[in-house]
Amino acid sequence: MAGIICGTGAYVPSYTMDNDDIAKFVDTSDAWIRERTGVARRHIARQETTVSMASEAGKRALENAGIRAEEIDLILVATISSDVVLPCTACEVQKELGAVYATCFDIGGAACTGFVLAYNTAAAYLTGGIYRTALVIGSESLSNLTNWKDRGTCILFGDGAGAAVMRADERNRYLPVTHSEGVKGAALTCKSRCCGTKEVPEEAYFIQMDGQAVFKFAVRRVPEVIREVLEKNRLVPEDIGLYILHQANRRIVDAVAKRLNEPIEKFPMNLEEYGNTSSASIPILLDELNRAGKLKQGQKLVLAGFGAGLTWGAAVTEWKGS
Ligand code: UT7
Repeated sequence: MAGIICGTGAYVPSYTMDNDDIAKFVDTSDAWIRERTGVARRHIARQETTVSMASEAGKRALENAGIRAEEIDLILVATISSDVVLPCTACEVQKELGAVYATCFDIGGAACTGFVLAYNTAAAYLTGGIYRTALVIGSESLSNLTNWKDRGTCILFGDGAGAAVMRADERNRYLPVTHSEGVKGAALTCKSRCCGTKEVPEEAYFIQMDGQAVFKFAVRRVPEVIREVLEKNRLVPEDIGLYILHQANRRIVDAVAKRLNEPIEKFPMNLEEYGNTSSASIPILLDELNRAGKLKQGQKLVLAGFGAGLTWGAAVTEWKGS
């Protein structure tokens, strides 16, 4: 895959809800949530929408990359929580940014693996010489899909968007690894309002999760897929500067680091502040690291996502930055 990230951006709502706020309406506590997940607060959209957050993150990524909207050939938005079905979120972003020459579509349903899949899709287009410049976004308003009566899920999620500008670059040639296992899909579900039956209980329209099953899946599959992607690209862990993992639970990230026998310092985290923002978590983290000057030129990064489907995957990218 010959596409390289040359700018990042993010947007999170200013309104936050901390663990004590959640403990006012479900039977939980700040201590339990911090210990079991590492989350302290999450940002929740009030006037923002998935489209508006995606547009703002995209705009900031373009500024960071020093690229004009007219130069964008492709806009991909990974989301499971858009406020629009038609037109797609990516077309709405195109309109907001004035990216008049871009081809636009959404990568829906890939949930927390969504950004990795969108990155891979854009990289494949860039590698194939079909497009030269892409804007890849993960944007979520998970608060609209959260059952605020279910303490097993409502403590986890947050809203926000992250974006990356990618350019064709022959030197960044790494192959990704991705997997799907539909037979395990029941572990993490959410019915659409289009499901065509009147017999659906109201809670099925919100995210429902077998937390332990997803936890076990993640701590097994994420180290596996990271080893696979390293092997496929003839790399060893020492070649990797940072592992940018989907931010679902601090214990999952800790367990992945341990299973890979890699120092936890190579696994940056920001889930304490944002919770799990699904497809947005990887690009939000990437943008924070970029703006804090923590990414070094030539450093190899592994991006790894996992979630509903079940789906999981990893990609290697060399940091060139803005
Ligand atoms: O983005 C990808 C998708 N999602 C994930 O990656 C999430 C993966 N799963 C997890 O992060 C964890 O499984 C959770 C954080 C969701 C749950 O943590 P856990 O350590 O697996 O807890 P558990 O489900 O095994 O529950 C342990 C106990 C239970 O009580 P009993 O049966 O032992 O009396 C639960 O009822 O904790 C109880 N519990 C809670 N207690 C206080 C469950 N949720 C809460 C809560 N506050 N919010």
